[in-house]
Amino acid sequence: MLTQPCILLIEPTHFEVSYSINPWMRPQRWQAAPEQMRQGAQRAFGALRAALEDVGFAIEQGVGIAGQPDMVFPANAAVVLDGRALLARFRYPQRQGEEAHFAALFAALHARGLVDEVGTLPSGCFQEGAGDCIWDASRGHFWAGFGPRSTLQGAQRAGEFFGQEVVPLELATQRCYHLDVCFCPLAGGEILHYPPAFTPAALQVLRQRVPAALRIEASADDLRHFSVNAVNLEDRIVMARATPSLREALRQRGYRVREIDLSPFMLSGGGAYCMTLRLDRSSRPAAGSRIAAA
Ligand code: ARG
Repeated sequence: MLTQPCILLIEPTHFEVSYSINPWMRPQRWQAAPEQMRQGAQRAFGALRAALEDVGFAIEQGVGIAGQPDMVFPANAAVVLDGRALLARFRYPQRQGEEAHFAALFAALHARGLVDEVGTLPSGCFQEGAGDCIWDASRGHFWAGFGPRSTLQGAQRAGEFFGQEVVPLELATQRCYHLDVCFCPLAGGEILHYPPAFTPAALQVLRQRVPAALRIEASADDLRHFSVNAVNLEDRIVMARATPSLREALRQRGYRVREIDLSPFMLSGGGAYCMTLRLDRSSRPAAGSRIAAA
């Protein structure tokens, strides 16, 4: 099992926006200049990889497959905790073909000792990986998004597999089709989130569990910039280009933000977080967390 911060990336050779399964996806815009888009995606991917290495992650890089352009978003491939991986079940046929490829990729990681166990969900039980099931290291539980993609049952099955508490949050809009688009726990216990993405009941749960001082509300502009879809390691955050107000709010809380132009991937409805999958997440309490210490 991995003990150092380690992220899975999938190289973008076969990435394109050729269908639309979320409201951000614009195949026409991709098709207007495919070569330029492809080059932009390669550049953006290289910059993201370099930034992640720079903030301290080891990188495991997998290959993409022709015809499965969204494999570049491995956050949806599985949920990983304590060296155990639960493979995703995708809602849309356009992405279901990824399941076999990610199963093979995780079998290879298992053979190399990078994960100890690989589990599966019954077919028809939709659960789109760490995009919809996010470990909160400060609080020691998962937050799970359901509605547009993953089902409540998928969230519950994940909780059973890992033997961990799952707090389900119903997503109210197709724009925020995965939890990671609108919700990001940070190392200091803060939850960066976009309130209109959630049903009233989900917002109530969030407010009961997270005190106001730890809730950072993102704006519609932050959402458009895919700033909530961020990768955080200690006081460092990697995200797509941020709004000045969010950059400043995070700076005041002691975070250093690294911004990458991820526009080719945003055209598919993805930002920094969904292009990654942490392989080293552990349920052991996070050292030095403000709320764990409280
Ligand atoms: N085009 C992809 C889809 O609609 C984007 C996935 C982004 N991943 C994420 N975890 N938000 O499935």
